[in-house]
Amino acid sequence: MNHNIVILGSQWGDEGKGKIVDFLTDKADAVVRFQGGHNAGHTLVIKGEVTKLRLIPSGILHDGVKSFIGNGVVVSLQALIAEMNELIDRGVPVLRRLRISEACPIVLPVHVALDEAREAALGDQKIGTTKRGIGPAYEDKIARRAIRIGDLRHPEKLKQKLKILLDLHNFTLKHYYNIAEQFDVDATFQTLQEYAQTILPMITDVSAELNAIRKAKGKIIFEGAQGTLLDIDHGTYPYVTSSNTVSGTVSSGAGFGPCYLDAVIGITKAYTTRVGSGAYPTELFDKVGEHLGVKGCEFGTVTGRKRRTGWLDLVALKRAIEINSITSICLTKLDVLDGLEEIKVCIAYELDGKRVEYPPYDNADYVRCKPVYETLSGWKTASFDQRDYSKLPVQARAYVKFIEDYLKVPVDIISTGPERDQNIIVKNVF
Ligand code: GDP
Ligand code: IMO
Ligand code: MG
Repeated sequence: MNHNIVILGSQWGDEGKGKIVDFLTDKADAVVRFQGGHNAGHTLVIKGEVTKLRLIPSGILHDGVKSFIGNGVVVSLQALIAEMNELIDRGVPVLRRLRISEACPIVLPVHVALDEAREAALGDQKIGTTKRGIGPAYEDKIARRAIRIGDLRHPEKLKQKLKILLDLHNFTLKHYYNIAEQFDVDATFQTLQEYAQTILPMITDVSAELNAIRKAKGKIIFEGAQGTLLDIDHGTYPYVTSSNTVSGTVSSGAGFGPCYLDAVIGITKAYTTRVGSGAYPTELFDKVGEHLGVKGCEFGTVTGRKRRTGWLDLVALKRAIEINSITSICLTKLDVLDGLEEIKVCIAYELDGKRVEYPPYDNADYVRCKPVYETLSGWKTASFDQRDYSKLPVQARAYVKFIEDYLKVPVDIISTGPERDQNIIVKNVF
């Protein structure tokens, strides 16, 4: 029996992680975020009611389940408190269910200003970030000058650290980016002091709590944000996010050792989408691309941006399987392919006349890769809302089988609609 599982995105994010985490939380004791920040947008649909989560783990709607924000997450207290209040207004006892590590770096308004300034300066080379300040906040973490949640406990030290940080960033904004906006130490300090009243009672030693649950043979879900191809090291650098999104990050981002993990579920969209810039060999600019965008409602949860769409890319997925040690796949949004005449799947790339079996690490090489496709039959009857594998159209089953055969990893769950229970369970993952 599996106890501690990682659920992460195997593509460019928005694979449907939130829906599946919420669904599987039924069987869990705790759900943990371990990287990213409020650049994430995870949508849950329960009996028609939509919940959009950004920082709060997708298990929060379940009674008796603990939610944790691990040290690897960068936290905008403003965004977190707003998200908490939205849920509290709907009767969700967030203050009882959610706990946070004091080692989380805080995302400040100055980080958002830097994010915006850098994107503007890049012009048409821009990353296409969510402009939530995530990159600059991680930079401060690595530079060892971040304000962490625990600093809220020591007002004097907090003020000193804020002065050093804001002096540096105000200088950069004014003299490097020519931006007039400046951030005041006293005003920022005051706001943080106010947030502290809500946040300090929620602090806990996340690592110790998770390991206590482990020792008591409880079940823990580690919820990834973004996706493997947005990983700072293994993604299409520099068109990536600023954290490691791969399964190894659970150890550093939550304080939970790798040998305690029993399974890694790769949430995989039955096609692909991407928000922001960067290589994307299977991207479609035709009617099929439009079909995927419209039928799949492919608009960003965080920024509302239209997502780029394309065919499934098994080359990129193979990389994701290997660097995450994905033990099984949850294939989402299969229903979005309903009604297509034919379905293409990328099985290799061609780069400068040579066949390539893995995604290049250099984005400039990657953009020159041409997809080599295998064409499969589409299906006319609906996979939408199916809960029984044998009731799937025969061509849809052939599609699933093709993916399994190529990747040599089983598809344990198939998601056939946005609702919590619109799933086919081939094998229990816990
Ligand atoms: P996440 O960031 O990985 O949690 O994914 P998002 O929530 O950003 O995007 C996934 C979108 O697809 C959400 O709007 C979900 O409600 C929706 N969704 C999830 N699974 C399915 C599915 O199997 N079929 C359909 N049609 N929609 C789905
Ligand atoms: P979830 O968890 C899709 C993308 C941005 C941009 C790049 C860098 O919902 O899957 P950042 O603001 O992180 O510095 O932006 O990463 N990005 C996401 N794309 N889903 C996400 O999260 C994303 N979080 C960041 O669009 O290309
Ligand atoms: Mg999302």
